[in-house]
Amino acid sequence: MRVLLIGNGGREDAIAWKLAKSKELKKLYIASGNPGTARWGENVAIKTEDIGEIVKFAKENKVELVIVGPEDPLADGAVDALEAAGIKAFGPNKAAAQLEADKSFSKQIMRSSAVSTAEGRTFTRFEDAKAYIASRDEPVVVKAAGLAKGKGVIVCNEPSDGILAAEKIMVDRIFGSAGDKVVVEDKLIGEEASILAFVDGRSIYVMESAQDHKPVGDGDTGPNTGGMGAYSPAPVVTDAMMSQIEREILVPVVDCMNRNDTPYKGVLYAGLMVTAGGPRVLEFNVRFGDPETQPIMMRLKSDLLEVCLAVCEQKLDRVTLEWDERPAVCVVMASGGYPGDYEKGKVVTGISEAEQLKDVVVFHAGTSVKDGKLVTAGGRVLGVTAIGGTIADAKKQAYEAVGKISFEGAHYRRDIADKAIRGKK
Ligand code: AMP
Ligand code: GLY
Repeated sequence: MRVLLIGNGGREDAIAWKLAKSKELKKLYIASGNPGTARWGENVAIKTEDIGEIVKFAKENKVELVIVGPEDPLADGAVDALEAAGIKAFGPNKAAAQLEADKSFSKQIMRSSAVSTAEGRTFTRFEDAKAYIASRDEPVVVKAAGLAKGKGVIVCNEPSDGILAAEKIMVDRIFGSAGDKVVVEDKLIGEEASILAFVDGRSIYVMESAQDHKPVGDGDTGPNTGGMGAYSPAPVVTDAMMSQIEREILVPVVDCMNRNDTPYKGVLYAGLMVTAGGPRVLEFNVRFGDPETQPIMMRLKSDLLEVCLAVCEQKLDRVTLEWDERPAVCVVMASGGYPGDYEKGKVVTGISEAEQLKDVVVFHAGTSVKDGKLVTAGGRVLGVTAIGGTIADAKKQAYEAVGKISFEGAHYRRDIADKAIRGKK
């Protein structure tokens, strides 16, 4: 099968790595990919958001399946355009992608399907948001309703901070038009988990659990990032809780999307807070998570291409997902200054030494090649991922690999997976 993967981050490097192991794969293109994905297929210079060019390339190159990695092309209708051209596309169409692209739509679906989430309201006028926040005694979270690269959420501890946050988003427009609408919701307390499921419109197949590390600093301090590391499985999600999440969150949402005439297909990702009262939904994403995908792909034993195809053909009930029992840990190495401003073009060394270690894969995210040398080209540069007998072994191996890699200004968290290791004791 001839496959085109859309995206250029660590998630796509992990997906490409896994697709390359498929017996069914004849040719893999990645648009636009990165030096990591070039190891598993052929990178093509088409921008992720250039849907017209993507469709044209897929037609001209007899691509049979397109897998869309990031949310932006999904929200812009990449799947609709590909399907209209008769090409199978993995991911939700534009209408269903609103589940991530519009947080107020997402809240409405949660309400209609009686899914447990934080109490919240949507506003388009700052004065109304201000009055609502002032009337609450609880700490609130203020969210730009549109897509803001995972950074459009401000978690506040005092009601007055909430008003300032709403002002920044609605009046100062720090997230641009993503902040035309805001969702204000109660702040939830607990440990986060990411549950991803394959959905074909009718059936659901839940993947193994994972946990991201959003804040930049050790001990969950500092500003939020795209994600500084992840591990799978997440012990905070017990087997009983996993069944509850499927029964009370994923199935009702997929049913509701059908009733709403926005049937869902692709990966449905529930970002959860495991509170004292059980799991509550923080958000839905309409794609694989980054960096959760890196440890999840390392643990997936089944053929990813077969599963993606089954999703597109509504035959998910015919596949079985098999998993490596061993846990996997991904540590993100980031550019100095990230998630704020950072410089690019720093030479990266030591990747081949790191990959000589057993059960280690170094996934590329923000890298490029300049004058024959591998250099940094983004905030999150690498996802150094290892699988091990225990979560502590996987962590040790991942950090040993990190220790062999260097570039000027590199920084990373040193406590990835500690919550899981503590949870095991
Ligand atoms: P979201 O993009 O909606 O998942 O929000 C990004 C991050 O903000 C989440 O991963 C949480 O760390 C935090 N967050 C979002 N909503 C809440 C909430 N209601 N309570 C506490 N933290 C939240
Ligand atoms: N890891 C968070 C995300 O993919 O949105």
